[in-house]
Amino acid sequence: MIVLLKNISSLLQIDDEELSYRAGKSMMEVHKINDAFLLIEDGVISDYGSMKDLPKDAEFQATKVRDLQNKMVFPAFNDSHTHLVYAGSREIEYINKVKGLSYEEIAKKGGGILNSANLLHNTSEDELYRQSVPRILEIMSQGTAAVEIKSGYGLNTEDELKMLRVIRRIRENFPLIVKSTFLGAHAVPAEYKSRQSEYVDKIINEMIPVVASEELAEYIDVFCDEGFFSMEDTDRILNAGLKYGLRPKIHANELAFSGGIQTGVKYNALSVDHLEFTGEQEIEVLKNSETMPTILPGASLFLEMRYAPARLMIDSGLPVALASDFNPGSSPSGNMKLIMSLALIKLHMLPEEILNAVTLNSAYAMGISDVTGTISRGKLANLIITKPIPGFEYFPYAYGSDLISDVLINGVSVK
Ligand code: NIG
Ligand code: FE
Repeated sequence: MIVLLKNISSLLQIDDEELSYRAGKSMMEVHKINDAFLLIEDGVISDYGSMKDLPKDAEFQATKVRDLQNKMVFPAFNDSHTHLVYAGSREIEYINKVKGLSYEEIAKKGGGILNSANLLHNTSEDELYRQSVPRILEIMSQGTAAVEIKSGYGLNTEDELKMLRVIRRIRENFPLIVKSTFLGAHAVPAEYKSRQSEYVDKIINEMIPVVASEELAEYIDVFCDEGFFSMEDTDRILNAGLKYGLRPKIHANELAFSGGIQTGVKYNALSVDHLEFTGEQEIEVLKNSETMPTILPGASLFLEMRYAPARLMIDSGLPVALASDFNPGSSPSGNMKLIMSLALIKLHMLPEEILNAVTLNSAYAMGISDVTGTISRGKLANLIITKPIPGFEYFPYAYGSDLISDVLINGVSVK
C-alpha cells in the first residue's frame, strides 16, 4: 500500500540527522519544505521532498493520492506522561474547590488520589477497560499517536496489576504506541497511614517482582515530593526497579524543591516530570544528564499553581518535552493542542520550541525517538494534517479551534 500526499503547503519537522532530541537554542530548529510531497509505504515514511522533485511515476504507483492544497503536515504528538486509565471522574471535587475548600479538606472528604483508588478498587478490569477506550479514541482524534500510561490508582498489588493489564489491552487493541509505567508509589494508601516505609517495602518486595515477571511495565515512577514520597523512599524504590530493568520516569518538584530532580538524574531517569519548582541547582544537575525535563502545564492551569520555568530551562541549554498529564484530579484532558497553547501563553515558549517539545523530545521521553517524532525516511507515518491555516504559528495561537483535519497512525487515518 503506497499513499502519496501531494501539494502539502508546508511539511514541518523533517530531519535527516537521526537526532534523539533538541536542546537549548536548537529547539528553535524546525526544518521544513514548502509545497511538498510525502510518500508512505506500508505505514512508514518512504520519501518526501519538494513537489518539483516528485518522482515521475510516484502518482501512478500510489494506491491512494491525496491533494493537500493549503494544508500543513507535521509529526503526530507523543504524549509521554498520562494517567488515563482511571475509574469514574472527580468533577465534584473541583466544584468543592471552586466553593473554597482546600486540597486537604477535599482529601479529608475522601477526595484526591485515594478517591480514584477507591473507585478503581470497586471497578472490574473489563469495566476499567471500557471506561478507558473513549479516552484513547479521543486523544487519537486530537493528534496523539503514542502515549505513556501509568498505573498508580491501585495502590495494592491486585489493583495495580488490574490497571497494568488494562494498559496492555489498550496496546493490543489500538494502533497508537503505548508505553506502560508502574507507579505504585503515587500515594500512601489509607491503611498504611503512618506506616509509609512498610508500604515502600511492599512496593519493593511484592509489587515490583510481579509487575516485572508479567512484563507489565517498561518504566517505574515515584511521586517524589513534599507530603508524598521522600528522596530516601525514592532511592529504595528506583534501586529495586533497576534490578528488574525498569528505567525511572518520575514525578518531581511539583510541590516543592523536593530533591526529586537530583534523585531522578542519579538513577539515569529517562525523564523527570512536572518541575514547577526548578532553580539553578536543578538546571545544573539536568545539564549533565540524559534525562528529559518534561513540563505538564495542564496541571498548573487546572490546580492554579505555578508553572515550570520553561524559558529559563531552555535558555540555559536544556531540552524540554511537553505532556498532558491526563488524569482525573489535576489535568482532566489529553488534548495536546491545548498543551501547545498553554506552552505559548503560560510558559512563553515559541512555536518552533513547542513543536520540538511535543514531537521529538516527548518521543525521547518515552524511548521511541528512533521510530517517531520527526518526518524521516523509515520512521512511522504518524502524522497530523492541519486544516488550511496561514502559518504554523496560528496552530498554538488559536487555542480553542480544532485545526486538525486528519490524523494518520501508521499511515492510516484515525480522524
Ligand atoms: O501527575 N502529581 C501527582 N499525580 C497526578 C495527580 C493525580 C490525581 O490527583 O489523581 C499528577 O498531577
Ligand atoms: Fe502525573
